[in-house]
This record gives sequence, C-alpha cells and structure tokens, in this order.
Amino acid sequence: MKSIITNGTVVSSEGEYRADVLLDGGKIVALGSDLSSEGAQVIDASGAYVMPGGIDVHTHFEMPFGGTIACETFATGTKAAAVGGTTTIIDFAIQAQGESLTKTYQDWRDKADGDVAVDYGLHVAVTDLNDKTLAEIPWLVDEGVTSFKLFMAYKGSIMVDDATLLRMLRTGREHGALICVHAENGDVIDVLVGEYLAAGKTAPKYHLSSRPAEAEGEATGRAIIMAEIAGAPIYIVHVSCAKALDAVRTARDKGQAVYGETCPQYLALSTDNFDVPGFEGAKFVCSPPLRDKSNWPQLWAGLRSGDLATVASDHAAFNYQGQKELGLAGFDKIPNGCPGVEHRLFILHTLGVEAGEITMPKLVEVFSSAPARLFGLYPQKGVIAPGSDADVVVFDPSVDGVIAAATQMQNIDYTPYEGMRVRGAVRTVFSKGEVVVADGRWVGKDGAGRYLKRKPFIA
Ligand code: URP
Ligand code: ZN
Ligand code: ZN
Repeated sequence: MKSIITNGTVVSSEGEYRADVLLDGGKIVALGSDLSSEGAQVIDASGAYVMPGGIDVHTHFEMPFGGTIACETFATGTKAAAVGGTTTIIDFAIQAQGESLTKTYQDWRDKADGDVAVDYGLHVAVTDLNDKTLAEIPWLVDEGVTSFKLFMAYKGSIMVDDATLLRMLRTGREHGALICVHAENGDVIDVLVGEYLAAGKTAPKYHLSSRPAEAEGEATGRAIIMAEIAGAPIYIVHVSCAKALDAVRTARDKGQAVYGETCPQYLALSTDNFDVPGFEGAKFVCSPPLRDKSNWPQLWAGLRSGDLATVASDHAAFNYQGQKELGLAGFDKIPNGCPGVEHRLFILHTLGVEAGEITMPKLVEVFSSAPARLFGLYPQKGVIAPGSDADVVVFDPSVDGVIAAATQMQNIDYTPYEGMRVRGAVRTVFSKGEVVVADGRWVGKDGAGRYLKRKPFIA
C-alpha cells in the first residue's frame, strides 16, 4: 500500500526538519514538500514527529530462566513493542548447557518465526563454550547472528569464566561479531547472596544489597580490559550505575571501541521502589538491580556524551502471581527481570526530552539509529531515508498519558511503571509500509514480521 505522511516534523539523529514522507512497496521512497499523493493513503502528522521505528536490541521473550519461562511471547511482545513505537526487536537465544549453538539458534527461530508481528533478529548467548561450539560461530554469523552475549553473573547457571569471555572476544573480532556482556561479578554476588540468606534476610530488598554497584563496576572494567587484550570491540548491556559508566567512559576516552547500553528502568526507577509492603518489591527485581537515584543524572550525561550509545528495554517479563512469587521464601529464587518493551519511547520522551535531559534527535539516536548501526541493520532500519524499510512512527509529543497494567498491551500482570504520568503518544506506526498501529491501537497482521539477517559488525 502506498502512503504519504504529511505536515509532520521528521526527526533523525542529526536534526529535525519539515518534510512529507512517501512510502511504497514497503520502503521509504521520497521525502520532500511537493510530493504527489496520487493513489496514496494520506496520514496527517500535524503537530507530530515522524521518526524511524524504534529498535530494541535487548528483549527476552519466552526465555527459560530460574525454573520458569518468561510470560511474554514473541506474538504478544512484538505487538506490545509496536504500540510503543518499536518496529524491530533483537532477542537473546540462550544456549542450554551441553547444547549446540546451532540448536539454540534454531529453537529460537522456531519460537519466533510465524509469530512475530514486527521484524526481529537474534543474538546468541553463549553459556557453554568448547572447540565444537566455537566452530559454529562463522555459520551463525552467515545466518545474520552478528552479536553474541556472555554473562559474567548468574553463577551455577549461565555465567561464563574469563577464559570464555576472552576466547569469544577474539572469535568475535575475527568473524565480525560484536560481543555483548552482562557485567556483574557473579562470584562476589554468589557469596553475598549466601550470606544474606543464611542470616534470614530473604525479602526482595536484599536482592539490592547482594548485587552492589562495585560488583558491576569491577566486572565492567574487567570485561573492557579483556576486550583491549583481544583487540575487540565490546558492548556492555544494561549499564545501571555511575561506577560501570565510569569504566566505559575511561576506556572510550582512551579511544577503545566500547559501547554502553542503559535501560528505562535505570533512568526511571530506583532503590526507593522497594519501599513497598510485603513481597511487592519482587516486581522490581532485575539484574543489575535498581540503583540509588543519584545515578540518574550521570546516566543521562552518559547518553548525552555518547558513552551510553543505546537505550534498550531488557524486557524480561515474569508475572507477579505465580512467577515472581517463586521467590517468596528467598529473594534468590525471584526470576530476574522487568517488562518495558512497550514503554521505552514514552519514558525516554518524558524523562529525557520533556525534562530537558536530551533532545529529540538524541532520542532517535539512542532509540533507533545507534542500535541499527551497532547491530548491522543500518540503513535498512534506523533512519527515514529513501531506500530504507518503511518502519515509521508518528509520535505526538503533546498528549498526556498514564502507564498502567490495566491498559498495557504487554502480556504480564503488572508494570513497574504503574501510575507513571507520561507525555507523548504514538498515533500511527508503519511496519514495512503497512499501518500496524492506528490511534495507538494494534491494527496489524499477526505474524507479519520476518527474521533479519544482520550484517557483520564494522568498528
Ligand atoms: O534481570 C534481568 N536483566 N533479566 C534478564 C536477563 C539479563 O540479565 O539480561
Ligand atoms: Zn543481563
Ligand atoms: Zn537481559
């Protein structure tokens, strides 16, 4: 279907300008002020921004974790993404012990293909590296898996040692894959968790004290040093605090190819959220944990300076009832993660743009363009330009809203942002030229998304 978006302000990571945007055949075909609307459906974007669809490079749909499976499916999660202005997600396929990476990848393709409502890619999280699994990496890169994740935490399940991290950094460099790291010192955390439980401190708030910022700062610095030894670029996922950001900044100031990601929960929530009755704090248990509010201004400064390149949701959804409750007897059994794939844009706009922390072009940069560049999707995605996929969001910055579980699209029984007042609303979303969201509601075709073979990483 041919469409023209008129009267809007187009936003790119470089700036804003008035232009109409013509879409045809699933692509953006032209931008300008005197485009013919003949045969096209007209979408009036008066008073609104016209921006590239968001790219969320950190989701965990249907993820097995902590004895349960994340309740967000690829079908529900990609629709929730779309109503929040995100038209591409990259999910983590996590290797089970003893399993080949090829099977891991195939299993995730089987879960997602035919179910995803918008386009998606996969990272593979390597948890069990040996010569056989190492040898699978070039094939995966050919399949478009051009990024891999290593966990330095979650001892006894998916944590890897430094030798694995170093080997993967070298392999990534050799084959054009970006290594992504969950940087927390899993050994230290394991000791602290044991001590709290032994002392009878089992409530959700002890999740916070058992994962100190120092453990994240140390692991971030260690991962970066290993990347330096390997001569490889590195991407640090979910940077939550100033101590980890300092390690990223120091390395970048020296010219090292280090890229940081933060998440809405570290910009909008804090340790204060644990001041709730009973077991309610479990809703906010994620790793790294929420930090003291004093970290917020530093994370915003990190986004402004570019030390933090992206904002991703780390959407890991576990229902409060029946899933988070697995940790009623001990915080260490609470499945880790917060939902947020639907709310990333609203939080960034409200706490970022409206609050004067970042500009709209910066929002587009961290929400869409930088993720596309780092993860091999640019310029197919992440920009409004002729030839790019017609993944376009019409975003009205003047509308007030409230985040609530009762009205969300996400398939989960709570939101950690319950009651948060946000400014800005998604009016229309196009995915490959088709309207999938109209007046903020999902109107697209289920299962219309496709797997994206991503390009190798180029530093
Ligand atoms: O708490 C989190 N972040 N859960 C998802 C897994 C991970 O560490 O990214
Ligand atoms: Zn992680
Ligand atoms: Zn994650």
